[in-house]
Amino acid sequence: MTVGIVGAGQLGRMLALAGYPLGVDFLFLDPAERPPAAALAPHLHGSFADARLLRTLARRSEVITFDWENVSVAALRALQKDVRICPPLAALAASRDRVSEKRLFERLRIPTTRWRAVGSRRQLERAVHDIGLPGVLKTRTLGYDGKGQAVLRTSADIERAWRELGTVGLLYEEYIAFTHEVSIIGARSASGAVAIYPLGGNVHTQGILRLTRAPYGPSSWQRLAERYLLRVLQHFRYTGILAIEFFVQRGRLVANEMAPRVHNSGHWTIEGAVTSQFENHLRAILDLPLGSTRATGYAAMINLIGRMPPRKALLAIPGLHLHDYAKAPRPGRKLGHCTLVARTRGERDRWARGLLATLAPNTRIP
Ligand SMILES: Nc1ncnc2c1ncn2[C@@H]1O[C@H](COP(=O)(O)OP(=O)(O)OP(=O)(O)O)[C@@H](O)[C@H]1O
Ligand SMILES: [Mg+2]
Repeated sequence: MTVGIVGAGQLGRMLALAGYPLGVDFLFLDPAERPPAAALAPHLHGSFADARLLRTLARRSEVITFDWENVSVAALRALQKDVRICPPLAALAASRDRVSEKRLFERLRIPTTRWRAVGSRRQLERAVHDIGLPGVLKTRTLGYDGKGQAVLRTSADIERAWRELGTVGLLYEEYIAFTHEVSIIGARSASGAVAIYPLGGNVHTQGILRLTRAPYGPSSWQRLAERYLLRVLQHFRYTGILAIEFFVQRGRLVANEMAPRVHNSGHWTIEGAVTSQFENHLRAILDLPLGSTRATGYAAMINLIGRMPPRKALLAIPGLHLHDYAKAPRPGRKLGHCTLVARTRGERDRWARGLLATLAPNTRIP
């Protein structure tokens, strides 16, 4: 049984690592010469929109999934008559464009930031006037790891932000002075079973996820996040893993964005939950029973960004699990992550603070 995956980055690689014990094979499509997942399974080398390669992928796969959002929805739509594609393309299309994502949250009564679509310099001025300052200007599509964003603090920033980003469709939203960032991740299987993980607490530096701790926060946050996640899962009759990121402000959860795929803030589940998000994604799309999402302890996951620390030093830390994506180093690039599962919240937090103090001393951890 083969699962076809559009995109062969680290998420695809971890899907394959989770799938082999279940007897699942993989086939990838990716434009990179040697992407991280290609070391594990055959790789069709070409564009995400290459109709011929996509047809080959469809012919050889039981089901097709994707490991990031910036694939071609139109090209995938053309395949739908020949092969099952999960998660649903409607969810992919909604999450690719920040404007349709905001509209979806509003339609499902999920609190989100106040926002305006921006297509011209004049509209940006009007949006800043309506929404106020500070605010964040973001590209509608193709953003990741904080790329394609500018924070506006005074009206003097309008000019700079417009020059930086003004060539594509944009969205301007209020800046949220959050106390915490959290994300909820859950799976819905083809036959409608749902399994949701404990909430993760996330810390970003320069727009890039640095640390996730899970379980995290009071049960009231967990309940709210689950309620919102369920609305999106049901709306799309979703199949696969879905993640939603929230800002926490005065006990309220404000949705930032969603991802129709396995998510970086769910990597802790590999060692920290009974069943990982990767395995549950595969179980969901293959319509197998979902596995338990229970946390086995208190996990912290730290991303290794830009430069890989010496393997020897990391592995000398008792209990540390290392995941090296075998990527070439580059500033701001996610090269791997490490996870520790502690017996108590306090032990976990001490470990995370200690390791981050050496890896990224400027990280502010709530
Ligand atoms: N409106 C906002 N108010 C305050 N902080 C924000 C806002 N928007 C974004 N941020 C900060 O920037 C981070 C990245 O933003 P966002 O999640 O929109 O970007 P992305 O590039 O799509 O990231 P991802 O890698 O999660 O796909 C957020 O997690 C948050 O820390
Ligand atoms: Mg994000």
